Amino acid sequence: MKLESFVDPLPLPQRMHPEGRRSEESLKAVDAPYYRVDVREVSCKMHRDLPPSRMWSYGESAAPVLFETRRDQGVLIDWWNHLPRKHFLPLDTPMQGMENAPETRTIAHVHGARVPTNSDGYPEDWFGPGESKLCFYPNHQDATALWVHDHAMGVNRLNVFAGLMGWYLIRDEVEDKLGLPSGKYELPLLIYDRSFDPQGQLYYPNPPDEGVWSQEYLGDAMVVNGKVRPYHEVEARRYRLRVANTANSRFFSLALSNGQSFHVIGSDQGLLSAPVEMKRLVLAPAERTDILVDFSQARGENVVLMSDRLELMQFRVSKEKASDVGLLPEVLLPEVLRPVERIPEKQSTRTREMTLNEFDGDNGDAMVMLLNRKHWAEPVTEIVKLDSTEIWSLVNLTEDTHPIHLHLVRFQILDRQSFASYDYLADEKLRVTGDVMLPQAHEAGWKDVVQCPPGMVTRIIVPFHGYAGRYLWHCHILEHEANDMMRPYEVIV
Ligand code: C2O
Ligand code: CU
Repeated sequence: MKLESFVDPLPLPQRMHPEGRRSEESLKAVDAPYYRVDVREVSCKMHRDLPPSRMWSYGESAAPVLFETRRDQGVLIDWWNHLPRKHFLPLDTPMQGMENAPETRTIAHVHGARVPTNSDGYPEDWFGPGESKLCFYPNHQDATALWVHDHAMGVNRLNVFAGLMGWYLIRDEVEDKLGLPSGKYELPLLIYDRSFDPQGQLYYPNPPDEGVWSQEYLGDAMVVNGKVRPYHEVEARRYRLRVANTANSRFFSLALSNGQSFHVIGSDQGLLSAPVEMKRLVLAPAERTDILVDFSQARGENVVLMSDRLELMQFRVSKEKASDVGLLPEVLLPEVLRPVERIPEKQSTRTREMTLNEFDGDNGDAMVMLLNRKHWAEPVTEIVKLDSTEIWSLVNLTEDTHPIHLHLVRFQILDRQSFASYDYLADEKLRVTGDVMLPQAHEAGWKDVVQCPPGMVTRIIVPFHGYAGRYLWHCHILEHEANDMMRPYEVIV
């Protein structure tokens, strides 16, 4: 079914409000705002011409929920699983040891948050229908846009697909002082792709055979904040767009249809040191970008946010000159944002070579993708000292770009370089071949996801600050993660 573009208005996120304040000694939470989230099944129209689709939400509709807090203001969130007992998406054969796990288990992870492990949403900390989990997020970190999503073992690609995702914004004084567009001039946009069956229900391909998983999911309908290709009316002035790619597998190559450039002011973990002017930006699954778009350059026009040929949403720019000449008439573009000091390589006390692998399965099974040739269930091999800094060299032996994410930490990209991968497969020696490529300006700030292109070694430098405990790192293509590109790591004191 071809759905007409730009017929539904853009839904704005559903802002969450605390029910009061609470302390919780076991979590070291003192007088913190307390939120309750009911994880539930809802029925929402994702397009004018579609019937309501069954989906899951942390709120009341398909529009993403939004938590907002400030640096050092910890929050308690009580997650309640009110899902039905049957999943509405096709499950594959249960993983070993999970035969008795409830189908509709869930656990929320605040992606990019620095939190103690018991509140981090470790995949095995899932809970079933009728159960709940109270988590504490201390928020000792810079202002940025984090996002919340499901992380339950074996099913998170389906749970996220069903709709379990939302925003988690942290503010701080450095950001306040910049006078960036705010209120209705700041638009959080969750972008992803979906397909619908002839009944207008969300369609996720069935596992073709027992035990064989789809290696990637690509849908044909582009969705922003829960609507297929919506539109939004904007004034002819500067806007701040917070964009998160929350697709299972799709990369978006963002550009504006009129060819105008925009300024990138932040990446996953907060502000860049200075704005970067760009016309096209590739956002991998789970990456976020923070951009300023000056719509006064397009008065009276319709400007479409595109990903290559695909339409994501339309901005209808008013003919009038922007009227809000109050506090910040034109909202000037700040020249300096927040200093990002490059971490010197010599600060690292250990370099680890980590491979990204792809193997053909035995007797016709699906391909397996691994990190360091190891499955999730194998014992922990990466044990890191709290407050130490390490370099991780991500050696990609596959033919895909993998967005690699580490829980708990933020990191910087050092560089990328091609290497002789056939030789590596023979003797596991890294022979770099091409030029050293420094990160592009818009990814030279603090990150929590890094794109690792095929045939290249991508080096990141990671200060392991925060908390000791069991965390994980994985590919954020959710189908890869499930099929087994996910590994635990441990931080010790
Ligand atoms: Cu976005 Cu392990 O998470
Ligand atoms: Cu991957």
